[in-house]
Amino acid sequence: MNRADARKRIERLSREIQEHDQRYYGEDRPTISDADYDVLLRELTALETEFPNLKLPDSPTLRVGSAMRTAFKKVPHVAPMTSLDSLMAADDVREFDARVRKGLELDAVEYWAEPKFDGLSIELVYEDGVFVRGSTRGNGEVGEDITENLRTIRSIPLRLRKRAAGEPKAPVTAGTISVRGEALIPRMEFEQVNKQLIEAGDEPFANARNAAAGTVRQLDPRITASRGLSFYAYEMVFAHAGLFAEHAPETQQQATEVLRAWGFLVERSARLCAGLDDVFAFHAALEARRETLEFEIDGAVIKVNRRDWQHTLGARSRSPRWAVAYKFPPRVEITRVLDIVVQVGRTGKLTPVAQLEPVNVSGVTVARATLHNQDEVTRKDVRVGDTVRVRRAGDVIPEVVEVIVDRRPRGTEPFTMPAKCPVCGAPVQREGAYHLCTNGLACPAQLEGHIHHFVSRGAMDIVGLGGKTVRQLLDLKLVRDIADLYHLTPIDLASLEGFAEKSIDNLMAALEASKRPRLDRFLYALGIEHVGGTVAGLLAEHYRGIEPLYEADLEALQEIHGIGPEVAEAVHRFFSSPRTRKVLDRLFQAGVRPQVPAKPRGPQPLAGEIMVFTGSLETMTRPEAQRRAESAGARIASVITRRVTLVVAGPGAGSKLDEAARLGLTVIDERQFLKRVAG
Ligand code: IVH
Repeated sequence: MNRADARKRIERLSREIQEHDQRYYGEDRPTISDADYDVLLRELTALETEFPNLKLPDSPTLRVGSAMRTAFKKVPHVAPMTSLDSLMAADDVREFDARVRKGLELDAVEYWAEPKFDGLSIELVYEDGVFVRGSTRGNGEVGEDITENLRTIRSIPLRLRKRAAGEPKAPVTAGTISVRGEALIPRMEFEQVNKQLIEAGDEPFANARNAAAGTVRQLDPRITASRGLSFYAYEMVFAHAGLFAEHAPETQQQATEVLRAWGFLVERSARLCAGLDDVFAFHAALEARRETLEFEIDGAVIKVNRRDWQHTLGARSRSPRWAVAYKFPPRVEITRVLDIVVQVGRTGKLTPVAQLEPVNVSGVTVARATLHNQDEVTRKDVRVGDTVRVRRAGDVIPEVVEVIVDRRPRGTEPFTMPAKCPVCGAPVQREGAYHLCTNGLACPAQLEGHIHHFVSRGAMDIVGLGGKTVRQLLDLKLVRDIADLYHLTPIDLASLEGFAEKSIDNLMAALEASKRPRLDRFLYALGIEHVGGTVAGLLAEHYRGIEPLYEADLEALQEIHGIGPEVAEAVHRFFSSPRTRKVLDRLFQAGVRPQVPAKPRGPQPLAGEIMVFTGSLETMTRPEAQRRAESAGARIASVITRRVTLVVAGPGAGSKLDEAARLGLTVIDERQFLKRVAG
């Protein structure tokens, strides 16, 4: 490849990977499989090695983890959380072993082999034995503070156990100790969560890992608590004592014993391997048991057992030299596409789904596979009649990997999205990668999904309004919008199948009980495009009522830290619609009163200020400064507009400072800022 082509390809790959990162980590909704992602990342890494000067300053290969949401506070890790190199082939594992032995100048090395959990890596920090903080991996250096959510996981000890009776060595718990491990959602729980999501008209999680990620990052810890997560520990770091302090375990095996003694769950199938043969045997046995385990695993992790040798081998930027992930081959089978149907979701999004000739993919019958969107179908050129490879990569929603073009029958046609909604017949409009039904809540598919979402837990939480009841209410035209729910009478309910006096009373009581939702839940329940729990929380906190939202213009909405132009646009469109207002009025008429929690107390020396930070700070990070400004009552904006009242500028401030000067805004430096927050 020549330089110009390489430049283009590198730019394209970097952008593409960043988008996937955002979908994966930011939205928990990946649109490609891990394997396809790895292919992109590998191609980029190879090109960057060949043309180092073309590597972009923000190349996705530079980071270990990825983009983070804004809603959680960011916290640095006790020590970086690295990733592991993934190997698929036995020969690659042999090479790994050869490199290790060469590095240590030894003929044989003992390995500690464990299952590779397919969850979310977490750091837990203990101070003198007490759990003080927990975070996601984030970008490897800094993660998201999810302490409150983690506290709800029963397998996370809130205090490290000292010595239990009969145990030989009392593990020391003094100082700062970081315990690493994986938050997982057991299969059974996962199926349950997805069932509930589907019932609520939401999209299910694609796999258990996404479900775990989505669950530990819930803004409402009660939701985390309700989902039965487990935490398996596999690693520890002593921050102050130093890894090789006397009390530190000498081997990985001992480390797991200490973790168990402290009170953590540690996977019991881990084994000491005398050499490569044992490693291969472990891997094979684990794969055979894979489907019987309580949770998803996607391979084995092979670690040099002696910790001093680990230290000798050290690490590269993304991964240690003393450990690798030895993955299982993907679960792929071949089958035929019988049809491609198009489903319509709550937001009107059309999703093409391949109906397959049922095929058994390692123990699970697969009859459908999502094709995501038109671009995906076009890229893979999947057609009705095609023979395809389907994969289940720890995913419940299997996917079509590729078409076996040689086996394509004559006369097939490329797939195109319908011009009309398959449910209501309204015109379909394309927005970015997606096709949308334009009929809004007049489309029965959208209305049904909308109502499911409205009544679901986390939203209005109306117990007893299950899928069947909603269907009947819609079929009998007793409900045409969400407000109608609160205008239902016992007589209406009596006309539903299976509704006797008791169930009527219960549902009426549940409706009544749901009339005082928290404002953020109410906003979330409305099902405004792009408004999930996080954005609803931001809006509720900022506006503290529905009325001010009617008034909010686009500019004002965008000034809220964490709300971008797309979201602002959707919120603005929603509240300016006369139809929406009518529905809201009827909800309020029926006695629905969203509740606004009391404002946090404490001095608010910056109350009423709208602030922008630009340039660097010396005594604290920008997020820290913004948090302090917010708790002092300020609101943080990300762009300079006339409404901004205070700009904090540090070294390196650029166009924002110019813009502030042009508008004649008050600009202060870090020192003055510190004085003002202090009050
Ligand atoms: S040890 C420096 N052990 O896999 C090595 N990691 O792809 C630290 N993982 O980020 C990791 N099971 O989240 C280790 N038994 C296990 C694991 C494991 C799953 C995850 C971990 C890591 C990722 C790397």
